Amino acid sequence: MKGIILAGGTGSRLFPITIAVSKQLLPVYDKPMIYYPLSVLMLAGIKDILFITTPHDQESFKKLLGDGSHIGCNFEYEIQDEPNGLAEAFIIGEKFIGKDKVALVLGDNIFYGNEFGKLLRSKTDVKGASIFAYPVKDPQRYGVVEFDKNKKAISIEEKPDRPKSQYAVPGLYFYDNKVIEYAKKVRPSARGEKEISSLNKIYLEKGELEVGVMTRGMTWFDTGTVESLDDASEFIRVLQNRQSTMIGNIEEVAFQRNMIELEDLKKSSERYGKSKYGQYLKEIASMGLSK
Ligand code: G1P
Repeated sequence: MKGIILAGGTGSRLFPITIAVSKQLLPVYDKPMIYYPLSVLMLAGIKDILFITTPHDQESFKKLLGDGSHIGCNFEYEIQDEPNGLAEAFIIGEKFIGKDKVALVLGDNIFYGNEFGKLLRSKTDVKGASIFAYPVKDPQRYGVVEFDKNKKAISIEEKPDRPKSQYAVPGLYFYDNKVIEYAKKVRPSARGEKEISSLNKIYLEKGELEVGVMTRGMTWFDTGTVESLDDASEFIRVLQNRQSTMIGNIEEVAFQRNMIELEDLKKSSERYGKSKYGQYLKEIASMGLSK
């Protein structure tokens, strides 16, 4: 399975913070936001990853992440010229995806939970599409999925004024190869975007959409507003300091998943100098194991 991280968009809800800097490079506590969704794909066991960014931000992402070989991955980069919607990712990424299945994660979505890696790895052999639902207080900000009595998904709407349920669709999606063909069928919505919800609706109507409800054990943040960005930082800070482990540490995940050797881990830790992040890596490397 291949992976795509969508890190485009103007980030206008965070202006002036994102006028000169890409939203997905902003700090969420002690590391750039993009580290979190990247670690999610790595936990799923995905190594071939495409980053889709705006034209002017691509260089910054390359500077931060390179070709991925230092963490046992293979990174590629493409640009999305205009914010034409999330479903466009599969058209931009058509060549990259080739004949494989593909996971998409949004660059501003943060996930944390017990046994999350196992859950992710169970989705990589998807037939049709597999997405999630997460109960929230403000569903009108998101894609919203409605279930019948048997917990079967019956409708999906993008940012509805009157949501039919409390269940938002988080920015993490698993698709079979038909996603390329279906993405091409998606017509722009009233706001002029090829919506991911329209794409998911195609799978739903064909009876090929699986929706898994994320329960209390899972935490999901989207960091699209100042409040949610601040909440996510606070959450990561409290959890990391209490447990003295790290969330979204990509080198740790690579080492844990046997994607790199101890020597590579040691080398990577040098890059982060005296920062807390670097110290943590050195600690893991000196123990020769992951916490
Ligand atoms: C996008 C999707 C929406 C999804 C959300 C998750 O919205 O369009 O369906 O629920 O991401 O973060 P956006 O944040 O781009 O407005």
